[in-house]
Parts: sequence; structure tokens; C-alpha cells
Amino acid sequence: MNSPQTAAITAVHGWLPPDKLTNADLEKMVDTNDEWIRTRTGISERRILKDPKKATSDMVAEVIKGICTQRGISAEEIDLVIVATVTPDMFFPSTAQLACHKSGAKNAWGFDLSAACSGFLFALRTGSQFVSNGTHKKVVVVGSDKMSSIVDYTDRTTCVLFGDAAAGVLLEADPTGETGIQDAILRSDGAGSEYLRMQAGGSLNPSSAETLAAGMHFLEQDGKPVFKAAVTSMADVSFEIMERNGLGADDISFLVPHQANLRIIDATARRMGVGREKVMINIEKYGNTTAATIPLCLWEWSNKLTPGENLILSAFGGGFTWGSIWLKWAMTPKA
Ligand SMILES: CC(C)(COP(=O)(O)OP(=O)(O)OC[C@H]1O[C@@H](n2cnc3c(N)ncnc32)[C@H](O)[C@@H]1OP(=O)(O)O)[C@@H](O)C(=O)NCCC(=O)NCCS
Repeated sequence: MNSPQTAAITAVHGWLPPDKLTNADLEKMVDTNDEWIRTRTGISERRILKDPKKATSDMVAEVIKGICTQRGISAEEIDLVIVATVTPDMFFPSTAQLACHKSGAKNAWGFDLSAACSGFLFALRTGSQFVSNGTHKKVVVVGSDKMSSIVDYTDRTTCVLFGDAAAGVLLEADPTGETGIQDAILRSDGAGSEYLRMQAGGSLNPSSAETLAAGMHFLEQDGKPVFKAAVTSMADVSFEIMERNGLGADDISFLVPHQANLRIIDATARRMGVGREKVMINIEKYGNTTAATIPLCLWEWSNKLTPGENLILSAFGGGFTWGSIWLKWAMTPKA
């Protein structure tokens, strides 16, 4: 018989760079305006990690430290760290190794996982297996992206969309199975790769003077096909996970959607029959923070959640990748 043990979130923490990049700032950099950005995307400002000596692993290390403080544990007690990111410090060593070193998690092994904006969901699902099968006691899953390192700030179609951030969770076993991750539907389709990607620096197009001159070291996106695929896929998979678990809109406390575009979020909520008051939305303040987005929402809303509440996490991103996770919240709000 399968063990009912689940992986529950027992701590959550986020880290945001202090510097803001507002729509007014962008108006001075490219041919855009506040009205266009707000009505097409819902974004007003985003955070940028300006310190040239800091990278994705530094943000992850801050998240690990915050998680340990919240849970009252030492970083040495962590068994595994999974970092979802498309902006690793470098190809190798992995961001997870660098962050473990910086945070004192010296008994943990770790690895990076690449699934763009769905990265946190892929990593959460992966990390939860190690906890629910009993092989690992404390697993940290972090989404962290320094998007400003791959965004072209002369391209108005992409530079208004992204921001930098990190956030993550600690997973520990719930032997009763009453809280924690209950179900997951994860999907990917490499046919979408041409619409959202960063081409240079890998084995297909190693960095060279030519790739640099062609701007291939920047993120590129064909917004319309990505928008179309995101609207349908995120809504479909969120509806599917509710349907196959017999969940109605009234059973859901919050939809926790990836924040790429307010119109995509609204379409997903509509399909689920969930009103705006039950949707975590912070896109206005941070833009699209790629793998950090969903845990950042969990962190910001954590004090409003009580044990047993049903959350549906949903994302769509480059790859294409997409998915939905149903979890039951395990933490009690801070007094
Ligand atoms: C990027 C996105 C916001 C663009 O919105 P859109 O409504 O599709 O806008 P379009 O691309 O059709 O552009 C409309 C016009 O605005 C212009 N425009 C684009 N960016 C602009 C900007 N920042 N400011 C002002 N005008 C802009 C375009 O050039 C175009 O002008 P044209 O009609 O003269 O050619 C939208 O496509 C989107 O959100 N895509 C999905 C993003 C996503 O989910 N990513 C995946 C997850 S990471």
C-alpha cells in the first residue's frame, strides 16, 4: 500500500532587491508609456538587482537563510536544495551549489532545474517526491531569477515585462497526508521553443563576437503566440486538476498564478470559476519574476492562510512548459 505521507510547506521566504524600475523610468529608456504597460500587462514597477557582484545564488542564499530563521533550524539540517532558474550564475557549478555554500547548507546536495516560468512548479513536484518517499527530511525548493541579466533594455516588447526576485519553501513530511502537495499536472512541449528563448551561450550557439553582435545573449519573445498558448494552457490545466479531484470553486481558497500578464491570470480564474478576491496578484509591484513568482506570492499571502486551505498553483512559461499543483496549506499564521 502506498504511504499517505505528503510533502508539506513548513516555511516560506522571499527576497527582493531594493532598487525599483518603474514605468516612468522605462519611458526614458525606450519608446513606451505607463498607460500601455499597465493596460496590456498590469505592471507598474519591478525590482532590479543592481549590485554587479550579486547574482541569482546570492538571492537564493538569502531565501535559505530566511527559511531557516523562520523554521528555527540551522542550514546544516537541510538535506537537499533545488533551484529553479533560467539565469544561473554560470553553467557550472550549479546555482544550488553556490547558494548552499553561501548560506552554510553544507550537508545538502543540490541541483538546478530549468523550466522557465514553470520552474517552481517543476521543482516543487520534484522536491516533494524526496520527502513523501521518506528519503529526505528537509528539502528547500527555491525559484530565483535575475532576469535583468538577460533582458535587452533597448527592446520595448520585453524589457517592460520582467523583474528580479527569489522566493522559496521548506518541505517536510506530513505523515497524515492531510496537508501538503496533493496532486500535480505538469506538461511541456518543445515545439514552443522558437517563441520564447535565449539562444546564445549554449552548445548550439557558443558565445562569440557574432552572437554578441546579433543580441543572441538576450531573452527574445514573440509575445502573441506565447500569450495565446498561455491563456489556453494555464486555464485548461487549472480546470483539469480541480475536475479530477472533485474540487469546486467554493473549495478553493486561492489561485496562485504565475504573473506574466494580468489578462492571462484573469482568463485562468474565469475558467476555474474563481473570483478576483481569491486570486493572489502582485504583478503590479514586481512584473514577471519567472521562477520566483509563485513562491513570492505564497510568501506575501502566508499570513492570511490557515492550515487545510486548498491552493491551486498554476504556471505557463518558456519551453513551452506549464502545469498546475493542488496543495493544502500547512502553516499557521504568525501571531
Ligand atoms: C508581450 C505582450 C504584453 C504584448 O501585448 P500585445 O497586446 O500582444 O501587444 P502586441 O505585441 O500585439 O503589440 C501591440 C503594439 O504595441 C507595440 N508595443 C509593444 N511593446 C510596447 C511597449 N512596451 N510600449 C508601447 N508599445 C508597445 C507593438 O509594437 C505593437 O505595435 P504595432 O501594432 O504598431 O505593431 C503580450 O503578448 C504577452 O503578455 N505575451 C505573453 C507573455 C507571457 O506570458 N510570457 C510567458 C510567460 S514567461
